[in-house]
Amino acid sequence: MALLPILKYPDPRLREVAKPVAVVDDGVRRLVDDMLETMYAQEGVGLAATQVDVHRRVIVMDTSSERNRPVVLINPQLTARSEELGFSEEGCLSVPATFERIARHERVTVQALDREGQPFELQAEGLSAVCVQHEMDHLDGKVFVEYLSPLKRDRIRTRMLKRARETQRA
Ligand code: NI
Repeated sequence: MALLPILKYPDPRLREVAKPVAVVDDGVRRLVDDMLETMYAQEGVGLAATQVDVHRRVIVMDTSSERNRPVVLINPQLTARSEELGFSEEGCLSVPATFERIARHERVTVQALDREGQPFELQAEGLSAVCVQHEMDHLDGKVFVEYLSPLKRDRIRTRMLKRARETQRA
């Protein structure tokens, strides 16, 4: 397994729309395992392949407090969502040190393939539902800061660019 570098907002590659996985083979499983290792190492609750510059529809997540319940979603499709919305603070490994309140559907149902390529259905609510929607946005080239006002988003963008310049200089 290997730790993968994570693209940071506003990297234009985060805007790419990911393509479906044709076959869940060993290459896809290796990607899944590397993404899980990277997510756990960074203490994230979810990671989309887009964030590691692989533009395929693959998501890993773990919203358990024990960090021992990995969920793998390959080619996820949203099949139902509650009308009810809920607000929660979201963060993202591609936008470090930034937490903002975002509205999401309280409950969602997703159909996907697992690490073995078997179809399954996930009924998600609470943090898990937030995570599913956040990560599926990544696959469509959308980062959560895009839900914010242009002013707030520009401020985050400026801060991230400054941070990137400082990292480069260091
Ligand atoms: Ni994210």
